[in-house]
Amino acid sequence: MAEKAKIGIMISGRGSNMAALVYAAKARDCPFEIVLVASNDPQAAGLSLAEAEGIATFAHPHKGLTREAHDAIMHDALVGAGAEYVVLAGYMRILSDSFVDHWTDCMLNIHPSLLPLYKGVDTYQRAIDAGDKMAGCSVHLVTPELDDGPVLAQTEVAILPDDDADSLAGRILIAEHQLYPRALAQYVTREADPDWILAQVRQRALALDETHERASFGAPGWRVGSETTGKYFAYFAQSHHGEASMALLVKTTGLDEQTALIDADPDLYYAPKFYGKSGWIAIRLDTGRTDWDHVADWLGKSWRMVAPRRLTRMIEIADQF
Ligand code: GAR
Repeated sequence: MAEKAKIGIMISGRGSNMAALVYAAKARDCPFEIVLVASNDPQAAGLSLAEAEGIATFAHPHKGLTREAHDAIMHDALVGAGAEYVVLAGYMRILSDSFVDHWTDCMLNIHPSLLPLYKGVDTYQRAIDAGDKMAGCSVHLVTPELDDGPVLAQTEVAILPDDDADSLAGRILIAEHQLYPRALAQYVTREADPDWILAQVRQRALALDETHERASFGAPGWRVGSETTGKYFAYFAQSHHGEASMALLVKTTGLDEQTALIDADPDLYYAPKFYGKSGWIAIRLDTGRTDWDHVADWLGKSWRMVAPRRLTRMIEIADQF
């Protein structure tokens, strides 16, 4: 199994979501492990639970410190513990922009509402007062705006006719405990998800000038030029002919370059069936260590090879400087 993602959890109180994550992480096939539980409150109940489970803990009160100074202390503790992701589990402090920036795309939060509804506090009462039929919880990526980042997963929880905020909160909490470990597991393994990988390729291919997507024999492909006269510069191959389960096909300068690449790194490159003889090369995207800048470079090179002269001329001129 691939190495587990290293998680630092931040709590302020009870820590029941933290407990759910800690127990989930005990499964042998869980793709994450908890390397630290950190709190802004040394008395937080969740800390003793984490300690009893043999997990490293860290606490530093925020009193008397600026937000930035306190966040920097928490940040150092997380980095020191080897955390690759920060998971907020009832961490009841607004984080400074610089802390959030450091952990962009690597920090998750759980919030007891169906975001974008009811950001902030009193989510249960607000849902009841609004006469909603459904409440719920959301796991989202953290961005500088409070409770505003992209939602990764949600669970709906029905509101019962005689619910009050407490009874509803109790049921939502059960849903949170199910949702958070699952959403986190999915997120840390997203790079193995074919849809995520295809989206990465697509974004980089379509960022090049005058490109569009067109399927070729069922495989996504990208062309440069007009819809009628455009030429393919890349294909996305999935589970083709028993080769790598996912690969990007791009054009090389010819068979010599293709052979040299395969000789230099046979784990990354291979000659794709049917296209190989014309110098196309397959770059594996299923190694778990894809260098996306490298993929972007390849797409650019392949694009140049087939793009109309009027597009490449500009680049040649720019290259001279
Ligand atoms: C949870 O219900 C969580 O959704 C909420 O605090 C509670 C923490 O409980 N978080 C927020 O409201 C964040 N805006 P826990 O400490 O038992 O996990």
